[in-house]
Amino acid sequence: MVNPNDLVIGGWDISSLDLAQAMERARVLDYDLQRQLVPHMQGIKPLPSIYYPDFIAANQADRADNVLPGTKKEHLEQLRKDIREFKAKNQLDKVIVLWSANTERFCEVAEGLNDNAVNLMASIEAGAEEISPSTIFAVASILEGCAFVNGSPQNTLVPGVVQLALQHKVLVGGDDFKTGQTKFKSALVEFLVGAGIKPVAITSYNHLGNNDGKNLSSHRQFRSKEISKSNVVDDMVASNPIIYKPDEHPDHTVVIKYVPYVGDSKRAMDEYVSEIFMGGINTIALHNTCEDSLLAIS
Ligand SMILES: NC(=O)c1ccc[n+]([C@@H]2O[C@H](COP(=O)([O-])OP(=O)(O)OC[C@H]3O[C@@H](n4cnc5c(N)ncnc54)[C@H](O)[C@@H]3O)[C@@H](O)[C@H]2O)c1
Repeated sequence: MVNPNDLVIGGWDISSLDLAQAMERARVLDYDLQRQLVPHMQGIKPLPSIYYPDFIAANQADRADNVLPGTKKEHLEQLRKDIREFKAKNQLDKVIVLWSANTERFCEVAEGLNDNAVNLMASIEAGAEEISPSTIFAVASILEGCAFVNGSPQNTLVPGVVQLALQHKVLVGGDDFKTGQTKFKSALVEFLVGAGIKPVAITSYNHLGNNDGKNLSSHRQFRSKEISKSNVVDDMVASNPIIYKPDEHPDHTVVIKYVPYVGDSKRAMDEYVSEIFMGGINTIALHNTCEDSLLAIS
């Protein structure tokens, strides 16, 4: 286990604010806590990042003032250089790259585009439109021998990335942080299905007012989230062929709404309807309110 005091944290952002300004903009921490943290945060400025507007919501454009110029190939080379310089400057044994940026839309996966490592590298070289920023980050990490973790729900780890990681013996993983409602759902559905209680309808509502909610108010980005939030139930259903026939699934609906007034205080409401013994119906309703950003760290 690494001593947390030995960790050095750096990164990229398409927004140029230093971490003290970003903390103020996010309005997550209490004023007094912010005041104490400012001296520790204000020197930390993100490096310029890759911005392909089509991949995140259009409503993010006004913060994109810290953007790398050039081609996709040049972006890849710049990220690799950033990683090398960060490692050397801080005399680090190991660098791990974590994608905690906005949820992107899903990218297309196609033969000749990103279906294997050779095609993926050729597509980056050619500047193919469908290569997402997060995929370029994953490739840069792999080529620098750094593990890459995807904290967002989009399909960053296309087959070409996975093959490249295997070739370089580098760990890649992650499909959304799944820290709050979705983690709870995984645990609860595992318990229900494992106990022979059959969930038949799962309905989840969220509303939140932070920048994640703003980005997810755009349909294509919401769709990435919807897919990753639905997958956890599919795995549990597949695990119990006794109560679910092949191809049988509970009705599962996920709704996310952007409500600026509630800020980072995310509300999650879930209803689980299950069939039990002798035709009985069991309905569980949950309501969770929590600071979304702090939940992600817990
Ligand atoms: N509880 C949680 O907060 C939680 C749980 C699970 C997953 N997630 C996911 O984690 C991600 C981050 O969530 P958040 O609440 O911190 O979002 P946020 O919008 O507050 O922060 C995202 C940051 O990424 C930056 N960004 C966007 N595109 C970038 C790029 N190409 N390169 C570098 N920086 C870029 C934005 O400027 C912004 O500062 C989202 O995908 C979210 O869905 C969050």
